[in-house]
Amino acid sequence: MKIRLAVQLCIGVVGLAAPLAAQGSRWWSWPADPDPQAVERGRPEFVRSCGRCHADNLTGTAKGPNLIRTARLRKDADGTAVAAVVRAGIPARTAGGSAADGKAMPSFQLADEAMSDLIAYMRWAVQKYDRVSPGAPPDDYPVERLLTGNAAAGKAFFNGAGGCNACHSPTGDLAGIAKKYPPVFLQARFLMPRPTKPRTADVTLPSGEKVSGELKVLNTYDVTLVSGGKTLTWPAEQVKVDVHDPLAPHRALLPKYKDDDVHNMFAYLWTLQ
Ligand code: HEC
Ligand code: HEC
Repeated sequence: MKIRLAVQLCIGVVGLAAPLAAQGSRWWSWPADPDPQAVERGRPEFVRSCGRCHADNLTGTAKGPNLIRTARLRKDADGTAVAAVVRAGIPARTAGGSAADGKAMPSFQLADEAMSDLIAYMRWAVQKYDRVSPGAPPDDYPVERLLTGNAAAGKAFFNGAGGCNACHSPTGDLAGIAKKYPPVFLQARFLMPRPTKPRTADVTLPSGEKVSGELKVLNTYDVTLVSGGKTLTWPAEQVKVDVHDPLAPHRALLPKYKDDDVHNMFAYLWTLQ
């Protein structure tokens, strides 16, 4: 198996580092390498608008995730998916989160040309990282050596201390999970999955009345629920919001993993081809 890309993945929140590799041909879909002049035009915009949260080299800070390993950037052939995120921003996911506490991403209105220059810079930064990441194994590094964990121990953790089997099954929802994501994302996804179901929330009004429904918007300004077929919006500072987050158990697991658990779990999930 030929390894084209090897990335040292660091999960800052638990201080873990595991070498992983994406194999096969380039799995992202940019039509061409970014134009060097566009990269230089895009750089100052990224540094000015994005760097404080994502770091100038895209490796992330406490305020914003690492963008080197996001599929949204790598799989975005024409740049529309990244442009959409930048223009819309991202509402806070967690209860009480807001742009003010750094848990959400503000929106940026950029003209099409500035946007495509910005994306050129981001692609350049990803390619640079892939090439020169310190400690990244060479191109022909065997996958066996990148999988430092023990799959049997990972399986035991899955069914034992990790309690994963309470919600997941290797022959059910996680069957073929190793094929679903490139290896470098597989670890990120089990540590912090993306929500697949709509979130629900209870909103307590100033009168004490409680309204429950599907949470559509939660940001610094507004809370919007769909309840009983009606769309209801309140100013965020006037109501109390309890979000029901199906991923709360995953968040609660994060501080409990030891390095070995993560490596072993990755090795086990990797067997679910
Ligand atoms: C105030 C901090 C902040 C700023 C400034 C910011 N972001 Fe973000 N960004 C975030 C956070 C937080 C997330 C993750 C939100 C989530 O997933 O809940 C994010 C997510 C993203 C994502 C999606 C990642 C994925 O995995 O899908 C992209 C792309 C992105 N930001 C690009 C940018 C760009 C480009 C800029 C500058 C124009 C920028 N961001 C400015 C905080 C920020
Ligand atoms: C209390 C329930 C619960 C527990 C316990 C749990 N998960 Fe999850 N997991 C979820 C939910 C909810 C999702 C989001 C995807 C969904 O809605 O199916 C998810 C998503 C995932 C995904 C991404 C799936 C995909 O297709 O993108 C992986 C991988 C995963 N979990 C692995 C684990 C592992 C490994 C453990 C144990 C260390 C674990 N989970 C423990 C509920 C749980």
